[in-house]
Amino acid sequence: MAITEQQIIDALRTVKDPDLHKDLVTLRMIKEIKIDGSDVSFTVDLTTPACPLKEKIEEDCREALGGIPGIGTISITMTATVRATQARGVQQIEMPGVKTVIAVASGKGGVGKSTVAANLACALAQMGASVGLMDADIYGPSIPLIMGIEDAQVEVDEAKEQLIPIERFGVKVISMGFLQRASSSAVIWRGPMVSKAVQQFLRDVRWGDIDYLIVDLPPGTGDAQLTLSQAIPLTGAVVVMTPQDAAASVAVKAISMFRRLDVPILGIIENMSFFLCPTCNCRHDIFSHGGGHQAADALEVPFLGEIPLHAQIRAEADEGTPTVVISPDSAEAEAFVRVAEAVAQQVSIAVRRAPIDLQVVP
Ligand SMILES: Nc1ncnc2c1ncn2[C@@H]1O[C@H](COP(=O)(O)OP(=O)(O)OP(=O)(O)O)[C@@H](O)[C@H]1O
Ligand SMILES: [Mg+2]
Repeated sequence: MAITEQQIIDALRTVKDPDLHKDLVTLRMIKEIKIDGSDVSFTVDLTTPACPLKEKIEEDCREALGGIPGIGTISITMTATVRATQARGVQQIEMPGVKTVIAVASGKGGVGKSTVAANLACALAQMGASVGLMDADIYGPSIPLIMGIEDAQVEVDEAKEQLIPIERFGVKVISMGFLQRASSSAVIWRGPMVSKAVQQFLRDVRWGDIDYLIVDLPPGTGDAQLTLSQAIPLTGAVVVMTPQDAAASVAVKAISMFRRLDVPILGIIENMSFFLCPTCNCRHDIFSHGGGHQAADALEVPFLGEIPLHAQIRAEADEGTPTVVISPDSAEAEAFVRVAEAVAQQVSIAVRRAPIDLQVVP
């Protein structure tokens, strides 16, 4: 007896996306089912190219279809389409091509936000996502240095009054650092207010189609954070902390601010978590690591992973080549990739949950 499409769909209804807790059919992830006698092919369209569970989901599909009597060859194509964040409440700035926006924040300075933001952006781009990196540190931009584009001149589309981001390591980058030396164009922001600059980076940059726009924030809970949260439906914030941030009170500050602003918390990243000795490659827990995990548990937010303290990470950032780009096979790069996967996972979950959180605006 020939296999029917209904049999395939029924079987795939038993396969769940472990993060989204729904079956692949309900999640509309199954596309292009083709049946040729007893042979079957179809596509599973995941919500991120950075899905760490890709193999498991494919395996689960095979197992589910294996139960159909008389089934022949099963060909599965795994693809990914990042789903867009739904608008919440009143939106000041429309960013039609930008599907998700992720703020990288911290309660205090120097914890490694910019280093983490740059490596996350590059890692997601390496995994096949279209990525933007917006440096919202208006007075102390460090992204141009870390990405090795300190001398870049930003181009301006005068007719459309748009800034064209600089493309580097497959990531579209914008930073105040590019504008300080730029021409006398009218679109270039010169005002005194951080919030004006952040708004311009959201509104007047030709981002194009972006799966993940990573925003590197200045430390603390100031104007940039406020503007970003109010101007657009932020998909979520990740909070970077170091193990020394005793009792995590610093992380608490950042998290409470985003909660007040109705921004979902994607999770906590512990940076400079443990010392990875460059000579013997063994791990030393100098600052009694684990604070990030404890803080995440206490605040009931996901823990996204830990990045070791390693001289190489600093040196590579200073040389303008983020670790995941220049040393992709190192243990440090591996840590950044794991964190990038965890962030992408939480973004998928936040996007899926968003409509339920939708505020009703009278
Ligand atoms: N995991 C790490 N191992 C070693 N050095 C690191 C690590 N993460 C960051 N650094 C270094 O620590 C310093 C501060 O990092 P970074 O500029 O990314 O922090 P930040 O939180 O963005 O700072 P600010 O609050 O000033 O914006 C930099 O010199 C950077 O190279
Ligand atoms: Mg910084």
